[in-house]
Amino acid sequence: MTLKVSFNDLKKQYLDLKKEIDFVIKDTIKNSFFIRGPYVEKFEQDFAKIIGVNHCVSVGNGTDALYIAMKAMGLQTGDEVIVPAHSWISTSETVTQASGKVIFCDTDKDTFTIDPKHIEKNITSRTVGIIPVHLYGQPADMESIIKIAKKHNLWVIEDCAQAHLANYKGKIVGTFGDAATFSFYPGKNLGAMGDAGAIVTNNIKIADKAAMYARHGGLKKGDHQIEGINSRMDGIQAAILSVKLPYLLRWTNKRQKVAEIYSNQLKEIKDLKVPKVAIGRKHVWHLYVIKHDDRDELAKYLLNNGIQTAINYPIALPFLPAYKKYKLRAEDFPNAYLNQSQIISLPIYPEMEKKKVNYVVNKIREFKK
Ligand SMILES: Cc1ncc(COP(=O)(O)O)c(C=O)c1O
Repeated sequence: MTLKVSFNDLKKQYLDLKKEIDFVIKDTIKNSFFIRGPYVEKFEQDFAKIIGVNHCVSVGNGTDALYIAMKAMGLQTGDEVIVPAHSWISTSETVTQASGKVIFCDTDKDTFTIDPKHIEKNITSRTVGIIPVHLYGQPADMESIIKIAKKHNLWVIEDCAQAHLANYKGKIVGTFGDAATFSFYPGKNLGAMGDAGAIVTNNIKIADKAAMYARHGGLKKGDHQIEGINSRMDGIQAAILSVKLPYLLRWTNKRQKVAEIYSNQLKEIKDLKVPKVAIGRKHVWHLYVIKHDDRDELAKYLLNNGIQTAINYPIALPFLPAYKKYKLRAEDFPNAYLNQSQIISLPIYPEMEKKKVNYVVNKIREFKK
């Protein structure tokens, strides 16, 4: 029997919380809390508390969060920023948009996060910062990254878009760098019902600069200290996120259970590598990414059996047409280059029933038999 297994199930999560979500949406509309207002303020306070930082500045999305955070760090034209070679393009495109120069650094073969071994050779007199990405939900090697950043006097902005509540040696991600950015895109571990994002920091100066930049350069209406942009989390998204936030830990635990079943059952399969979690890192499984020698055939086989998969991301950043002008070479990013051809993301979401997880496992076992 064929089961339908979608990559994610946002409808199920909505139906589980329908009463609460419908109530706050109506309340926002009834009171015209569209821009700023109590729901936005409450979410900023609650999110800062859950991450354990002093400030949360809500913005329009996770991409803006990166751009604004770099502006708040004072990025100047031509400043170089080191980013991992494998990520979603927001991590690198925002460096360019903020007038900086993107410098790609290879990722670790197993954890898919930036490899600290390769960071130092990319540092020049123009380097100002590093953006580690906690890709797929696994923290980057923050101890080594912070050590390098301190040695060379660089700032660190953690891209936590995929890693809400992940932790490294017992410390939650988003608290290691000068600032950290989050996305609440609907499919993220904490997802809005539209675009939304945030910057968190313990530094009041960075928080104020970011808030100012995101709100036309002023914190009071009409008082434009600088030129900024317009990037705000709207009231309805903040209200929805406030409903969802108390469930985040429970959902994270459920994702971890699904990942555990996958890893236990898939680890013996030939030609397949289950994701490796480095010692001391708590993965939150935004994505469950395996490596397979015959990735494309496996994806086709699974789809024919009703299972949706994804590739995150099929072309590592240095090899995208957007960066062709830099003439970057595969030899300089061997891990990202190899990984891009082997990775495949399996369905994972908190509400995923065990029978569906087992079905995916069984279909992978059957593949090529
Ligand atoms: C690693 C990473 N950084 C940044 C972003 C940008 O977030 P958003 O889609 O909210 O702009 C994403 C979202 O997909 C992401 O995965």
